[in-house]
Parts: sequence; structure tokens; C-alpha cells
Amino acid sequence: MAAARTLLLVLLAWPAATAATATARDSLLNVCMDAKHHKTRPGPEGQLYGQCVLWKENACCTANTSLEAHQDQSYLYNFNWDHCGAMPEKCKRHFIQDTCLYECSPNLGPWIEQTDTSWRKERILHVPLCREDCEQWWEDCQDAVTCKVNWHKGWNWTTGTNQCPRGAMCQKFKFVFPTAAALCEQVWSHSYRYTPHHRGSGRCIQMWFDPAQGNPNVAVARYYALGAAAGPPLPVLLALLPPALLALL
Ligand SMILES: *[C@@H]1O[C@H](CO)[C@@H](O)[C@H](O)[C@H]1NC(C)=O
Ligand SMILES: *[C@@H]1O[C@H](CO)[C@@H](O)[C@H](O)[C@H]1NC(C)=O
Repeated sequence: MAAARTLLLVLLAWPAATAATATARDSLLNVCMDAKHHKTRPGPEGQLYGQCVLWKENACCTANTSLEAHQDQSYLYNFNWDHCGAMPEKCKRHFIQDTCLYECSPNLGPWIEQTDTSWRKERILHVPLCREDCEQWWEDCQDAVTCKVNWHKGWNWTTGTNQCPRGAMCQKFKFVFPTAAALCEQVWSHSYRYTPHHRGSGRCIQMWFDPAQGNPNVAVARYYALGAAAGPPLPVLLALLPPALLALL
């Protein structure tokens, strides 16, 4: 009798657990983070500018944000790329693309974390970047110069834009970031994680993609959301099934 009751419970709980898992997973898909300039919900944005245009079918950024992402010292963050002299264009385009991904992508849900800074409630942490995107970023920035490893913290903001703090020496990127992984992971305090996965593998987020082929990051987010949401409930319920069935015989 106890066994029959267990079986009944398992059969009743299963769909509920599955539904809960699906809800948890869906809340990680097609979302915008709660940060400084993001829209509340993703949607089409016909007028996205320049390098951000890849996201025009479905974006968390507005046209204004996409345009501002291309300006030096834009109103977005007043951030000065040229804090140790002009950043070469071939390097800057990667930081612009990084800004476009951050502001526009609706596929970063699995890596959104709460944060309690004055300017945003949520951030991204450990987004698995495709190795080629990270390596090209590093290659193209070899001639660029900076004075800091972590660009999120420790600047002198007294003039309204970021300046190198006293004592921080301007050096070529290769001395500040000895490897591609060091650059991608440390520059924005671990927003990105360097991965061995290749572009097109479905296991890493692409900063760059060909929009004619669709947005490859949709499938990547789904893959990691499934992994994150498939917690213990289902396996536990399944483990309970055989004894319950055996006891009925
Ligand atoms: C974007 O919007 C901000 C705030 O409303 C404004 O100050 C800025 O000039 C706009 N930028 C462009 C390029 O329209
Ligand atoms: C910050 O920058 C201002 C203006 O350039 C300078 O006067 C001040 O000494 C700097 N402070 C620090 C801690 O670097």
C-alpha cells in the first residue's frame, strides 16, 4: 500500500517538477538584464547602428544605445578608451563589439547575476566566449596601451571620465594581459570566461556572427540553460520509481 502511494506521488510530482524545470529554463532565455541602459524586454530594433546591427531582429538595446556604443566617451558610461593615448581602431572595434554584445544580446540569461552597484542591479558573470573571438581581440590589441587590468574598478573619476590612478603605469596590452584569456576574463572582472570551444560549436557565445545565418547564441543560451535548470528533482523522482514498481509485483 505504501509502495502504491509512493508510485502515485511520483507519477503526480513528475509533471509538476518537469513544468517547474521548464519555467526556470525559460526565464533564462530571451531576456534583458536589469542594468543601466537595457530595455525591459527584447524585441526588434530596425535602426540599430554599425557593429550592433547583428542584433536588429531581437535586441535589448535601443538604436540610441547602439549609436552611442560607437562613440568615444559616450554618455553610456563616460568611459575613455584612450586613457593611455589613442587606442588603435583595430583594437577599439573589439571593445565596441563587446559593448554591442553586452547592451544588445538577449541570450546572456544563463550568466546574469545580481549585483548591488549604484548603476546596475544585474551583471553578467563567466559568459563562455568562443576562443577565436577572444584570441582575435587580444591579437588586435597588441599595440594598444593601458594602465589597468580590471577596467571596472579603481579609476580616478574626478574629471568625470576615467583617468589612470596615480602610480599606474601605461604599458602595452601584452604586459598587462599576458594571454588572450587574461584579457577577456580580467578586463571586465570575469564577465567573460575564456573557453576552448570554437565558433559554431554551439557551446560558446560569439561576439561576432553573420546575421544572415541567424543568431548562433540563441542555441548556446538554450544549451546552458538546460544544464543549469536540470537540477536534482527529476533524477531523484526517477530513482524512486523502480522500488515502487517492484513492491507492486
Ligand atoms: C541618446 O539619448 C541620450 C539620453 O536621452 C541623449 O543625451 C543622447 O544625445 C542620445 N544620443 C543620440 C546619438 O541620439
Ligand atoms: C585624480 O585626478 C586629478 C585630476 O587629474 C588629480 O588632481 C588627482 O591628484 C588624482 N587623484 C589620484 C588619487 O590619482
